[in-house]
Amino acid sequence: MTPLLSVRDLHVWLDTARGPLSIVDGVSFDVGEGQVFGLAGESGSGKTITALALLGLLPAGARTGGVAIMAGRDLLAMRTSERRRTRGREIAMVFQDPTSSLHPMLTIERQLTEHLRYQLGLSGKEAHLRAVALLTEVRMPDPEAAMRGYPHQFSGGMRQRIQIAIGLACEPRLLIADEPTTALDVTVQAGILRLLRRLCKEKNLAVILITHDLGVLSALADSITVMYAGRVAESGPTSQVMGHARHPYTRGLIDALPHPEAPDRVLIPIAGDPASPESRPSGCAFHPRCRYSRPSCQIAIPPLIPIDDGREMACPVDPFMASVAR
Ligand SMILES: Nc1ncnc2c1ncn2[C@@H]1O[C@H](COP(=O)(O)OP(=O)(O)OP(=O)(O)O)[C@@H](O)[C@H]1O
Ligand SMILES: [Mg+2]
Repeated sequence: MTPLLSVRDLHVWLDTARGPLSIVDGVSFDVGEGQVFGLAGESGSGKTITALALLGLLPAGARTGGVAIMAGRDLLAMRTSERRRTRGREIAMVFQDPTSSLHPMLTIERQLTEHLRYQLGLSGKEAHLRAVALLTEVRMPDPEAAMRGYPHQFSGGMRQRIQIAIGLACEPRLLIADEPTTALDVTVQAGILRLLRRLCKEKNLAVILITHDLGVLSALADSITVMYAGRVAESGPTSQVMGHARHPYTRGLIDALPHPEAPDRVLIPIAGDPASPESRPSGCAFHPRCRYSRPSCQIAIPPLIPIDDGREMACPVDPFMASVAR
């Protein structure tokens, strides 16, 4: 089946005082309709920049390479006006912190209906009805009353639901959620994740869920791509990546996760700090932190190699191959 979005060899260079800086270096992935695609990796691995590149929202002076084909068109090659139409109508984004994307001085009604009137040309009454329906869809209690409220009157979880309602207003085919639950406590987080899953299934919506927390993705994503220093370390179906991680970096992330069935298990953090784009290590960027690294890892950038069941991995040492159930 043709994926809804197919990203191939995405590169992003940001403009800095010291010249172009490579942030995303050859990332490829597919997102299918009605699927949750998880983009994981530690802070600074380039997850948000990848999303901003797809939306055409990179900072001034940024350059991109590669292609991102959605419904037959390359998102990276669109003109500004076409991009603006695509945002909201075909792709919507939900950010970590709704306070930065919701206007503090405007009622929820105004924020929802202005979007509907501007993007879809609805009348005031039509927009009101649609806004109530959207708030109902995201399970907002008493949607009519919520419409009259201001963002500060809602809890973090409810603000996130409002942001998702705004994202859904124009019935996009793809929703990019960038750390949508990081600022929320665990039970509220679970509610938002269930909501995303339901929308995905009921509306055949594709979701790119960006998070540093592989635990979140294990319950929700159909497939996962793990990024390190702007490159893909490992990607594949969630059950494979989480159950039999092959790249030492993916293993490291999983070993650092608390396990609900073994609360006493010792968590092993990955030693060292994530690589920064200013000083991305040579060869495999993960080599200074990898206990399996060999001298050759410092020289050549390891290519992504197909392993099994649609999975790819970029580690020539492959220390966990033997542990894979065959
Ligand atoms: N405007 C900018 N100018 C220069 N460097 C930037 C800019 N924006 C981001 N970066 C750098 O790009 C790298 C990737 O940033 P990005 O925000 O995509 O990371 P991330 O994976 O989303 O991390 P986090 O989990 O912290 O959100 C980081 O090292 C960051 O410092
Ligand atoms: Mg980010």
